[in-house]
Amino acid sequence: MEDEDKDKDEDSKNNKEEKIDIDTIKKIYKAGYSAVKEAASYVKPGVKLLDVAERIEHNIIEQGYNCAFPINLSINEEAAHYTPSFQDEKIFNEKDVIKVDFGIEEFGIMSDCAVTVDLSGDHADLVDASKEAIDAALSIIKSGVEVGKIGQEIENTIKKRNLAPIKNLGGHGLGIHDLHAGPFIPNFNNKDDTKLEEGTIIAIEPFVTNGKSGIVIEGDTCEIYQLEAEAIVRSQNARKIMSAIINRYKNEPFAVRWLANELDSKFGLYSSISEIFRTGALNAYPVLLEQSKGLVAQTEVNVLVGTDSCELLTK
Ligand code: CO
Repeated sequence: MEDEDKDKDEDSKNNKEEKIDIDTIKKIYKAGYSAVKEAASYVKPGVKLLDVAERIEHNIIEQGYNCAFPINLSINEEAAHYTPSFQDEKIFNEKDVIKVDFGIEEFGIMSDCAVTVDLSGDHADLVDASKEAIDAALSIIKSGVEVGKIGQEIENTIKKRNLAPIKNLGGHGLGIHDLHAGPFIPNFNNKDDTKLEEGTIIAIEPFVTNGKSGIVIEGDTCEIYQLEAEAIVRSQNARKIMSAIINRYKNEPFAVRWLANELDSKFGLYSSISEIFRTGALNAYPVLLEQSKGLVAQTEVNVLVGTDSCELLTK
């Protein structure tokens, strides 16, 4: 999942966790990468998004992990945050460009990586640009590098192909139980001189578009939420849903679809979520659309920042 450039919370939780050995951490990131590759292998014309989502999320839980967030299967001008609803009938089409963005969690360690599936093969330039931007970023990442400089590398690489980076999406630190810890890693040079620290794990995620705007806006669909704070809600149904959220997902992102599978009755589910949302208890993650309806590709990797270089963990 990506970080919108509005949460520059520098209070990274990366350094607060109890020590978990590095081999365990590496194993989790490797498994997170395998999950994304597996999900991508299910993406084919005519297949329902809902089937891909349920299959991969089920497999991850079978393997003893949790989902760090609902799988995002965002198509064409959707850059991020599309996850199927519980009754979603949408299927992949032959010409779709699909961003498969997913993460797993164990001991609070969260992976967050993504690949783009270009079903027609007509958009290799977009996909390649995002991969090249990753390579360029990784070539300079080490402790002490300013995040704005990483953004510059990403931007330069993408512009060489006459494409544009999406400026209001970017990478982020990965903390314990904190998917969007600081620092924010821009996809262009935003002049942020925050320096990377050794031992930090970060997600780098260049989004590339052939659209003119290079920014994303929020769409109408919202299937992903996250509890921000508990609040008092009036209706009995909303109270029931609020306690399900608190018990099952705590402060981590969840899909309405997950809640639907938990509840005996799906009656009034969306109206209850709206009621809870209006109290300010929930953060919403609506679908993000490239403003000029350009196609969007994304590659996302997780790396461990070292003294002289970085180590790719999602491989
Ligand atoms: Co991310």
